[in-house]
Amino acid sequence: MNVTVFGSGYVGLVTAACLADAGNHVVCIDVDPERVRVLQEGHCPFYEPGVDELLVRNARAGRLRFSTDAALGVAHGELIFIAVGTPPQEDGSADLQYVLQVARSVGEHMSDYRVICTKSTVPVGTGRKVRAALAEVLAARGARIDFDVVSNPEFLKEGAAVADCMRPDRIIVGTDSPRALELMRTLYAPFNRNHDRLMAMDIESAELTKYAANAMLATRISFMNELALLAEKVGADIESVRRGIGSDPRIGFHFLYAGCGYGGSCFPKDVKALQRSGDEVGLPLGVLSAVEAANERQKQLLFARIDAHLGGVAGKTIALWGLAFKPNTDDMREAPSRTLMEAIWAAGGTVRAYDPIAMDATRRLYGERADLVLVDSAEAACDGADALALVTEWKQFRSPDFDLIKTRMRHPAIFDGRNLYDPAQMVRLGFHYQAIGRRAA
Ligand code: UDX
Repeated sequence: MNVTVFGSGYVGLVTAACLADAGNHVVCIDVDPERVRVLQEGHCPFYEPGVDELLVRNARAGRLRFSTDAALGVAHGELIFIAVGTPPQEDGSADLQYVLQVARSVGEHMSDYRVICTKSTVPVGTGRKVRAALAEVLAARGARIDFDVVSNPEFLKEGAAVADCMRPDRIIVGTDSPRALELMRTLYAPFNRNHDRLMAMDIESAELTKYAANAMLATRISFMNELALLAEKVGADIESVRRGIGSDPRIGFHFLYAGCGYGGSCFPKDVKALQRSGDEVGLPLGVLSAVEAANERQKQLLFARIDAHLGGVAGKTIALWGLAFKPNTDDMREAPSRTLMEAIWAAGGTVRAYDPIAMDATRRLYGERADLVLVDSAEAACDGADALALVTEWKQFRSPDFDLIKTRMRHPAIFDGRNLYDPAQMVRLGFHYQAIGRRAA
């Protein structure tokens, strides 16, 4: 099938690469010529395991091309995906201008039947707006050409994006057109082995499904974070509680980890956008407001604890392990490490940080500054540190040489934002150790 993908961010690029790998001829359009150049050279512009290989393999096979030319994109694909950004506006609602721009550009250039399919996370009602924007342009052209609109939200996780895209749990297709649905079934047939994962529904339900999934997951995390704080107060251990409740299949073990707050490009943005959707129809979503407030508080927790333990961080050095919002990505969007670093700086402390992948992204974000020292190993981050904060649970932080770390720190205190270590062992090793919701040893 000939497919066009507008947008070469996480969602667009991974979708384009995976669809090409399944044998489709894919053109990926982006407005940024520099990004297109990098992609044409076979490089993924962000860190995501497996994408580079897909780019090279499919470009060589002639199945994947990149361009800035929207007209070429519209001429190429009978199926056109919109996977451009929907950044949050000041009030938290999603900014649809890029999505609607693509819809208009499809309207300008199309000369034959097209299916326009949104993959970006868009609020309920966007499908209707896409249809209206496109129809308006066609009408202005005086063109009578048939088209259909589909909502096909993407559920990929950063760091596991290729696997999620190749082996989806579910394929949500929202449309009122049997013809478009048939096209989507054909497209997804190679990803839909063993049992049928494609769920057809109306556009609005498909749009809401994406927000509902992310909001539900964020809710679980905030709930566990709140319970972790309660566990500390009443002398319980959140790890035992997690195992205890996770064994109920209605609850399940995934996404029950207390920590220093959720971050990333999706949860914070989508929780806010869903709240705004509720506000717009006069239905305040109280559960989500609480989810967001709990997360904000959780992101402040590590600083508050370090500050209290050290009696103020002015003039102190805090080691940070992990900067990315989660392992296996270099994404710093809404990362809890940022809240912590910014609080340390505001209080006059210095950060010595190490992350296996996200150091360049951190440099780009904060530039050169005296109170941020980026070092090239976990051990080096500890040199002369008054406390160590573990923010991202990269694998290599799981069993460090604690004796070595202790000798390199000025003061052996570990604030574990991801509950990686055994509290009793840490105390035996001579550390002041504080995790999230763990029973004090
Ligand atoms: C998420 C959804 O999982 C994905 O389906 C959707 O398409 C996009 O948003 P992503 O943002 O890549 O994916 O990250 P995810 O792995 O879901 O983690 C989000 C945040 O929650 C991270 O900051 C992570 O550290 C935190 N988290 C996750 C917890 O604090 N506890 C958990 O138990 C799980």
